[in-house]
Amino acid sequence: MKTLISADEVQAAVAQLAATIENEYRGKPLTIVGVLTGSLMLLADLVRHIDLPLKIGLIQASSYRGKATRAERLAINVSLTPDLTGRHVLLIDDIFDTGHTLAGLLEQLSHGNVASLKSAVLLWKEGRQEVEIVPDHHCFKIPDQFVVGYGLDYDDEYRNLPYVAVLEEKDCG
Ligand code: IMP
Ligand code: MG
Repeated sequence: MKTLISADEVQAAVAQLAATIENEYRGKPLTIVGVLTGSLMLLADLVRHIDLPLKIGLIQASSYRGKATRAERLAINVSLTPDLTGRHVLLIDDIFDTGHTLAGLLEQLSHGNVASLKSAVLLWKEGRQEVEIVPDHHCFKIPDQFVVGYGLDYDDEYRNLPYVAVLEEKDCG
């Protein structure tokens, strides 16, 4: 596996994102909503850098891709998601790839009488987007390669790596 973004680079970018969020949400009732499972590392590190009162929520999204790489159907589970009425909501995910996941989740959350709704992702995979929206914040743009680590998985493995690596053919055994 080839490291694409080192653990130090990840941590520096997360701290910088936290500073941006602090400035944007000071004095506003903020709820940070993490998308299970890929956002857990980013969520946990990010909130510890944000020196503001905030609430944490979770939402679950699964895309069934079938044979094709593009997401075909998005299943959203809000049973773990708190009431977001009147809250300034920041949705956090691991990666913006085709964009269907983020677009679907934002659409879902927009029905909740939120005060505002924005999004932030760790990675933005260039040249893959199939939707009109883009994330409000991102830490890194990456080329169109399959990556794992820092929340991102291959068959639910590798999420615990503290860095982001490109998965090679021989790692897929
Ligand atoms: P979307 O295509 O933007 O809807 O992304 C759907 C989901 O696919 C993301 O939330 C990730 O869980 C997963 N995904 C997309 N690209 C990668 C990758 O390079 N590595 C691991 N997971 C990925
Ligand atoms: Mg995934």
